[in-house]
Amino acid sequence: MSTTALELEAVTAGYGDNPIVREFSAHLEAGTITTLLGGNGAGKSTLLRAIYGTNRLFSGRILFKGKAIERLPPWERLRRGVGFVPQGRCNFPAMSVGENLKMGCYTLPGARHEAAIGRMTDLFPLLREKWRTEAGNMSGGEQQILEMAMVLLLGPSLLLLDEPSLGLSPRMQGDVFAMVQRIAATGVTVLIVEQNVRGALLISDRALVMEQGRRFMEGSAAEVRTDPRIRQAYLGGNIKETAA
Ligand SMILES: Nc1ncnc2c1ncn2[C@@H]1O[C@H](COP(=O)(O)OP(=O)(O)O)[C@@H](O)[C@H]1O
Ligand SMILES: [Mg+2]
Repeated sequence: MSTTALELEAVTAGYGDNPIVREFSAHLEAGTITTLLGGNGAGKSTLLRAIYGTNRLFSGRILFKGKAIERLPPWERLRRGVGFVPQGRCNFPAMSVGENLKMGCYTLPGARHEAAIGRMTDLFPLLREKWRTEAGNMSGGEQQILEMAMVLLLGPSLLLLDEPSLGLSPRMQGDVFAMVQRIAATGVTVLIVEQNVRGALLISDRALVMEQGRRFMEGSAAEVRTDPRIRQAYLGGNIKETAA
């Protein structure tokens, strides 16, 4: 039996007086990975921010686990299980990995910190190995994993990831995708925006395509990956692909 984790109903969102995302609807099943594709400036980050509540929602509804959250402040959405890892670096670079993880626990009752951190170092053993390393001295991929862990500490059931593999070497991109799969395997629903379209689609169940703020296409990751328009626009057109 499948359950709906997130439902977007005609979401129109943006900044100030400017709607960027328009009438965007989507449906995410619990425990699945969905890639959100779209060109530069299409409005992908704007949609993630709207789900987390850090920009302006003009109209539409956002249902998380069946309940409307669109009027709640971000911290209340976080408390209910919406986790967001924004684009770019967002750790405390001069602090060690261990200190960053402790900072990540600040909204949890003290008695739960140790267990929460233990779950993260079990899920990502790298963080135990690098416990005393200054976060800013780690590779981009390692920092990305730390940042995902800092959000996962709070036990979200939905994880919004904005360009987690941006700027990473191909090998580290693969590591980040493997981590995302590991996270989803624990039952977390993932919505991921990625410049590495091919890599993201390979780990995804579903895909949403946004063009100029509007939903252009929606389907299984395999359908979207083999669609001629998508191959032309996002996969370099002539990439040979064995259909899944
Ligand atoms: N903080 C902001 N204030 C005003 N406009 C913004 C802001 N962030 C993004 N925009 C505008 O929203 C549009 C979509 O941006 P964004 O959602 O970041 O696109 P994407 O993530 O798909 O590349 C762009 O035209 C951008 O200029
Ligand atoms: Mg963006």
